[in-house]
Amino acid sequence: MSATDTLREDHKQIKRLDQVIIKCYTELYAGKDIPLDDIDKITLVIEEFLDSIHYSREEDSYFPCVASYDHLKQEIRGLLIEHEFSRRIALQIKRYLKLWKEGQDSREAVARYLKTYSVYLMDHMSKEENFFDKAESEIISKEEEFEMYEQFKSVMTISKKMEDMIKEIEDLENKSWCKN
Ligand SMILES: [Fe+2]
Ligand SMILES: [Fe+2]
Repeated sequence: MSATDTLREDHKQIKRLDQVIIKCYTELYAGKDIPLDDIDKITLVIEEFLDSIHYSREEDSYFPCVASYDHLKQEIRGLLIEHEFSRRIALQIKRYLKLWKEGQDSREAVARYLKTYSVYLMDHMSKEENFFDKAESEIISKEEEFEMYEQFKSVMTISKKMEDMIKEIEDLENKSWCKN
């Protein structure tokens, strides 16, 4: 395994989450009821897995390593802006979910922001995967790949949290609204 492969692996899990999100907003638009706690779980995985683990691997290690070669700077800038955009959408999902829990019907807004999030995810990850291919083949050294990989793996609390988050995704996949 290398650092780039680790990020690709993260993306595989994020794609599973994306499938859950697609199912969720589709059902909401169709007027079906989904337990708000399940939507809460989606926002939890977004926060704990995407925001605090995956983005931090990219923003704090991988991107700076690539940028240190003075390469792909434009691309990195674009990806960082998209991360910020996604954080804002996630906040909106949480905001409307909270209002919904408080009794205000926010079905439409929650569905709409979930859909926006999913569109972002697919677009962002495909751009990033092209970026990974370039970075891997043209820029990052084998030593750096290994070093960052070790760094990703060495944070025990993160490995544990990763496991928990993958379990959460699995859980969501097994909900009846998600399976049918
Ligand atoms: Fe990213
Ligand atoms: Fe990513």
